[in-house]
Amino acid sequence: MPRFDDAFLQELRMRCDIEQIIGAYVPLRRRGRNLVGLCPFHNEKTPSFTVYPENQSYYCFGCGAGGEVINFIRRIENLDYVEAVRFLCDRAGMVMPSDGYDSSMAEKRRRTYEMNREAARFFHDTLLSDAGKVGLDYYKKRGYSKRTITKFGLGYAPNSWNALRDHLRQKGYSYEEQFEANLVQRSVKGDRTNYYDNFRHRVIVPIIDVRGNVVAFGGRVLDDSKPKYVNTSDTLVYKKSLGVFGLNFAKNSKEKSLILVEGYMDAISLHQAGFDNAIACLGTALTSEMAHLLMRYSEEILLCYDADEAGQKATQKAIGIFSSIGAKLRVIRLSGGKDPDEILRTYGPERFRSLIDGASNDIEFKLLKAREGLDLASDDGKLKYLNNASEVLASVNNSIAADIYLSRLSEELGVEKAAIRARMTSIQKRRRQQNKNREFQQIQQSFARTAARAAAQSGGSLKSEKAQKRILTLLYFNPDFYAGVKDTLDESRFTDPACRQIYAVLRQRLEDGGSLDFSALSGELGTEEMSLFVGLCRADEALPGSRQELRDCVAVLEAEAAVHAQRVQAGELDDDAFKALFKPKKK
Ligand code: UTP
Ligand code: MN
Repeated sequence: MPRFDDAFLQELRMRCDIEQIIGAYVPLRRRGRNLVGLCPFHNEKTPSFTVYPENQSYYCFGCGAGGEVINFIRRIENLDYVEAVRFLCDRAGMVMPSDGYDSSMAEKRRRTYEMNREAARFFHDTLLSDAGKVGLDYYKKRGYSKRTITKFGLGYAPNSWNALRDHLRQKGYSYEEQFEANLVQRSVKGDRTNYYDNFRHRVIVPIIDVRGNVVAFGGRVLDDSKPKYVNTSDTLVYKKSLGVFGLNFAKNSKEKSLILVEGYMDAISLHQAGFDNAIACLGTALTSEMAHLLMRYSEEILLCYDADEAGQKATQKAIGIFSSIGAKLRVIRLSGGKDPDEILRTYGPERFRSLIDGASNDIEFKLLKAREGLDLASDDGKLKYLNNASEVLASVNNSIAADIYLSRLSEELGVEKAAIRARMTSIQKRRRQQNKNREFQQIQQSFARTAARAAAQSGGSLKSEKAQKRILTLLYFNPDFYAGVKDTLDESRFTDPACRQIYAVLRQRLEDGGSLDFSALSGELGTEEMSLFVGLCRADEALPGSRQELRDCVAVLEAEAAVHAQRVQAGELDDDAFKALFKPKKK
């Protein structure tokens, strides 16, 4: 793990106030000494994401993500530790220390980018060679111009098991490196390992990130066989759930909006037709993390998924996610074709332009959906529509917008505004209660999971688990207590692996007289351990404690260790550890 010196991290922390940094990604509201907002790392409707200015940390009660400012940037920008430090350094106008950290990871990523670029060049060159004629014909058939092919660096992977592998090897990249970048696959037979090209006889679309790095590839079959696409899976430089195709171009568009479509091919066709703000998301399902990412590049999202049932379902989900984070959204309803690509090919760009102009905002879209199949001339139909529409309006956060639609609805149906409003309010009340219950359950479940995991790993008691955690908190708040336990408290006393690792890091720092600031620990703890530790030390809940309490906790671990030793001697340990997992819970 890289390690910067404490003085540098101290200064970085002072210049990068957590409230400001996180506030740029998540709208925060003040609550007492802390701030709360909707967690960017999981979907939620009521805020459980908390920022603690006091010790410059954050913690989400819903999903357990936690840490300090560097760790937040790592997660949200999908960077490694050193890159996150560099990101914050740039922002704070500080100079990165040139030595004092291990740069091997950054070097590995740099090589992966280079290798990907080399692969992209290989696919593109192949497309333009004799071997690539089938690929070029395919693109021509789809109406892609030479210019489009060059602009996107489109390519063709030859029908071979080793063409790319051998090419990259010749350029100095080992098979193992190629495997890690998911450019080749691996099969092991006995003691023989075989490496072979991942992309074969497919047209290739390189995915380029906003910094211009080739991060991944999508490879499409030339006919109707399955699977239709082979995609790069997660690698050192690519996280599929955050993959966006076309953002490298769209981010420079004059348009303030982004057109979000389902397929690579739709995005490419849109660019060719002059819609240079089109992008496609490559993750299986849109997440709020992804939505946050997109919002940073645009003021408004124009959602344009396929017209089929799957596309419409995905639209509903996406509306929920975008509106929960307060994004401006309009939904383009396709008519006359199943996807943007087909519409452009059948009718041309003007048709698509007019679809954009006619796009309803998300509320209108949902209201239209709410009346589908209902006969508004009948009382029954009217009532059903009123109920559905109230459900829709109950989710509208903007009260002025809600009022406008309320007025329209009241006129349209000839029902008093007050009556509709009353219905809306009761729905909102019901939902708040439901959310509260659900989130309470989530928190309970997450506690139960942690406890079960701990019991499984240690074969030990919950009491010991608590003691281990408490020791970490006590040392964090009272580093001077350490002297009293340093001789007795050994790492091996910690049966929980995460606690053991945290203790090892704390101990090392206490021995060296280093700082226990979260920002100082961030380089040495993984995100999981960091989340756990910050969760334990939450500024509003953790009690500073006493030396006696620390001694008591250590005694619990010692007793546990003694029992453990006895059981191992008696040869009964495995059996008991197993039973402990299935012991019924006592109230
Ligand atoms: P589509 O099947 O709509 O593909 O899937 P497309 O890119 O629009 O291609 P055409 O126009 O039908 O030829 C939409 C997206 O879903 C992902 C790809 O990102 C694709 O662009 N997908 C689809 C896969 O990853 N794997 C698949 O097997 C299918
Ligand atoms: Mn498609």
